[in-house]
Amino acid sequence: MKKILLAIFTLIFFCMTAAAVNAAESDDLTIQLKIDSPLMLVNNEEKSIDENGTVPVIVNGRTLLPIRAVVEEIGGSVEWNGDTRTVDLQSGDNNIKLEIDSTTAYLNNGPYTLDTPPAIIGGRTMLPIRFIAESFGLEVNWSGEEQTVTIVKKSEIQTETVTSVEIRTEVTTNEETTTENDNNILVVYFSATNNTKGVAEKIAEAADADIYAITPAIPYTDADLDYNTECRANKEQNDDSARPEISGMVENMEDYDTVFIGYPIWWGQAPKIMYTFLESYDFNGKTIIPFCTSGSSPIGSSAENMHSLAAGADWLEGQRFGGGASADDVSSWVNSLGLK
Ligand SMILES: Cc1cc2nc3c(=O)[nH]c(=O)nc-3n(C[C@H](O)[C@H](O)[C@H](O)COP(=O)(O)O)c2cc1C
Repeated sequence: MKKILLAIFTLIFFCMTAAAVNAAESDDLTIQLKIDSPLMLVNNEEKSIDENGTVPVIVNGRTLLPIRAVVEEIGGSVEWNGDTRTVDLQSGDNNIKLEIDSTTAYLNNGPYTLDTPPAIIGGRTMLPIRFIAESFGLEVNWSGEEQTVTIVKKSEIQTETVTSVEIRTEVTTNEETTTENDNNILVVYFSATNNTKGVAEKIAEAADADIYAITPAIPYTDADLDYNTECRANKEQNDDSARPEISGMVENMEDYDTVFIGYPIWWGQAPKIMYTFLESYDFNGKTIIPFCTSGSSPIGSSAENMHSLAAGADWLEGQRFGGGASADDVSSWVNSLGLK
């Protein structure tokens, strides 16, 4: 009976996935803008960027776009505050705050350093497209030859593919099938503002792995993360002996051969709670694969500086992602690791 049920659910899964993929292929939104052109192509339909004839420009080698048109096309919103000279962009659950002429931007309240600040050019607010697109999970392609930027928003329906996978996972956990996570991979992450959480979930899906969130015994408040002040996070990062307490444990760590460990970059390094985590288990003989999210900093020395805390493990090279990394970006990295 279970086998019949499994077959039915598997069939439903394949039908839903096929439908989702077909819909995704046809429902992707593509927006193309050209340097110095006041027109944009939205799914090949020509539209004016705005009524003032604003055009995209290149400053410091970065493309600055009149962003309102793009964000509104993808179903997001843009709010300009003239008093503070700030722009708030919202798309789905992600919020970006930028300030004119400031290289500090905020994604979901986490600070990022931009290499080109937003600017007002010809009375229009021009924003660095790559940072915004990456944060909102959009694909951006630049053609130097054509001088065009192509932004692709993958169809919303693709998320249904994820739901379908979850259905399959539930069904295959019955005792007749043992396909769920029998590859002994665990994804562990700490995330204060959910960017790393999003990437960790995508890794777990791509690697068919179990997932565990490191939960601080004392949660980090907004004030604790306000890195412009003498906040808790800054104090911990400056204290070699800081080991913030973790609430809960991975009960069956011995079951895992490969452990991805993910964290946000705080002042170029992993938060000290990652040190607490690594010191709490025996990683001898396991493979550890670090990953992080950050505003703009690379993974740098953050992973190497944790090697001594699990010296008996085989540490693979780590990977940095932007806060809104796409499922495609994450899964290509996971696939490149050649895990079984
Ligand atoms: C205390 C603190 C320090 C940070 N330091 C850096 C940094 O050095 N470089 C950087 O690019 N981003 C830095 N950030 C931004 C975070 O790395 C970034 O927002 C990250 O994606 C947050 O991940 P989370 O949402 O999983 O916590 C910092 C954030 C905080 C709160």
